[in-house]
Parts: sequence; structure tokens; C-alpha cells
Amino acid sequence: MSPLTPEQAALVSAARAVRERAYAPYSRFRVGAALLTTSGEIFSGCNVENASYGGTICAERNAILGMVAHALRPHDAGVAFRPRIAQIAVFTDAAELAMPCGLCRQVIAEFEAGAHVIVANPRAERVIAFAELFPEPFVLRSEGGEG
Ligand code: THU
Repeated sequence: MSPLTPEQAALVSAARAVRERAYAPYSRFRVGAALLTTSGEIFSGCNVENASYGGTICAERNAILGMVAHALRPHDAGVAFRPRIAQIAVFTDAAELAMPCGLCRQVIAEFEAGAHVIVANPRAERVIAFAELFPEPFVLRSEGGEG
């Protein structure tokens, strides 16, 4: 296994730290995620469960929502401004490395730019190109579709 870059190791540490804040009373499965934007900012998030189950937010999406709300943006940025994920780390204590769920992959796809995903637990880590994890995301085209 190739060693992590210092940047990747910092993301894994941030994901590991935020995992401690997970609100997971139903599954008791705690997840932390930390991402690095292409402009060098780090945002992190943990899973936040809900009694409805369906209202549960995964750690990855929580980190992405924080990025959208707080990332630096040009003063004239409009509704289409899109911060970009360069790397995202996901930390669990699962026996096998836990991969981002399908819903999170589609949301990562919205914001990634040639990103790498680092999945880690206290015993192992693996770096995967996002394009390998989710090669054909749904893309909403503004023309040529139905209607
Ligand atoms: N979970 C994440 O936080 N990220 C994923 O990619 C998969 C699942 C959370 C959601 C829920 O709180 C718990 O893990 C069990 O599914």
C-alpha cells in the first residue's frame, strides 16, 4: 500500500477527529469525513442520524454542505459557483474499510475535480480515484433532454 501524502494524512486525522462527534444513536455506526478543496480549504462533517431514518445525513454529505455554505468564493459569485473537491477522506471503525454510499457518490460527483477518495480505519487506509469509484454519474443536461 502506498503511503499517504502529508495532505492525505491530515485529512484522515480530521475525519477521525470529527467522527467523534457523530450523532448515531440508531445504527451506532460512526463516520467522519474531511475534504480538501482545490483552493486549499478543509471542511469536515460526521453522520447525523434521524428518528425517521430517511432524514439521516451521511458524513460525506455533511462535509460537502459545510463546504458549500462556507468556502471562500469570488465576490461576484452567483448561484452556479461550484467549489471543487480535490480529496475526501472517510474514517470509520468498521472491520472492512467502508466506502461512500451511492447517494454520497452522486453528491461528491457534483463537486469533485479529479478527486481522490481516502477510506480509512484505525488499521488500514486505501486511496482510490473517484472516477474509479463512480465512473458514470447522472448529469443533468440543460438541452437535448426530454421536453
Ligand atoms: N453513513 C455515512 O455517514 N456515510 C456513508 O457513506 C454510508 C453510511 C452513515 C449513515 C448512517 O448514519 C450510518 O452510516 C449507517 O448507515
